[in-house]
Amino acid sequence: MHDIVLIPGDGIGPEITKSVTTILEAAGADINWIRCSAGQKANQGEGTPLPEATLEALNKYPVSLKGPLTTPVGAGFRSVNVALRKKLSLYSNIRPAKTMPHIESRFDNVDLVMFRENTEGLYIGKEQWVKEHSHAESIAVVTKRASEKIIRASFEYAKNNNRKKVTLVHKANILKFTCGLFLEVGQEVANDYPDIEFEDLIVDNMAMQMVMRPEQFDVIVTTNLFGDILSDLASGLIGGLGVTGAANIGDDAAMFEAVHGSAPDIAGQNKANPIAFLLSSLMMLEHIGETSIAANIRQAVHETLADKSVCTPDIGGKGTTETFTQTVCENL
Ligand code: NAI
Ligand code: MG
Repeated sequence: MHDIVLIPGDGIGPEITKSVTTILEAAGADINWIRCSAGQKANQGEGTPLPEATLEALNKYPVSLKGPLTTPVGAGFRSVNVALRKKLSLYSNIRPAKTMPHIESRFDNVDLVMFRENTEGLYIGKEQWVKEHSHAESIAVVTKRASEKIIRASFEYAKNNNRKKVTLVHKANILKFTCGLFLEVGQEVANDYPDIEFEDLIVDNMAMQMVMRPEQFDVIVTTNLFGDILSDLASGLIGGLGVTGAANIGDDAAMFEAVHGSAPDIAGQNKANPIAFLLSSLMMLEHIGETSIAANIRQAVHETLADKSVCTPDIGGKGTTETFTQTVCENL
């Protein structure tokens, strides 16, 4: 029996959580879910978006599955997602984007894995007003230590998964210190992996290359903000945010979540695609050694995708979150 912290989250979170826990149970995964709250709902109900009991559970149990958490735009509390990644030192945000059968998209040959630095960059929250409503500043932090951790993680992944190339994405022509350091560390780490091809691209060119010829990319490693943006772009190459899972991995803890957010525009309508969160949970099962259960579920998802009448509308289906979930369980 595996003890795993479960945070259903905001918006579509509870719906996709119900789907994923139902499918994992049907597949025979022996999991003791430790349910905790966080995000906007927790803020309304308990007066804090990150309750102490949740933090305690996350410190006690190393593995968690987390639904999307709403972060207010502009004003309001700061991102709990960013805080959790920092608090638990989850330095690798791993976001695979692979073409899936029966999902229509512009390409049929995408198979890349994005490694996004997850603890620093412009996301450290060091923002200030120099003069309110007319002059604001934000500080980006890049350290050699964190850069080396994420870049090494990307090369180790490439080595262990028979990948051929690592592409480092930066803006070192303009951000000469922060991105310059990230690139410098990349060049050093690459020397330890002579069998893996290494290249670096400037982020604006990268965005164009990914849209024109995504099949040229294999493993990608980049800083926090660029990784956030380019991983949504990568989702768009294979069918959208409804189908891309992700993992946040550190040395002592691992938190699995989808790339997407709480999708308030479709929350509570039985329309949310649970595949992204399900793929995150499969990364979690693989992480805890339950690889055959993960493979069975993956197979059942692929079979289910062949029948568009049960799939959700975002991937051209005519079904609901519930019809998809039920059919995956039947196919298991
Ligand atoms: P979003 O990812 O929630 O939604 C973007 C678009 O994709 C929407 O049209 C939505 O309906 C669609 N979409 C997303 N997931 C889907 C799914 N599973 N099935 C079908 N359609 C799906 O991004 P948005 O709207 O920019 O952000 C909403 C909230 O989510 C914000 O408060 C944001 O801060 C938060 N957020 C949280 C994340 C997390 O918890 N890791 C990540 C990204 C955003
Ligand atoms: Mg994002």
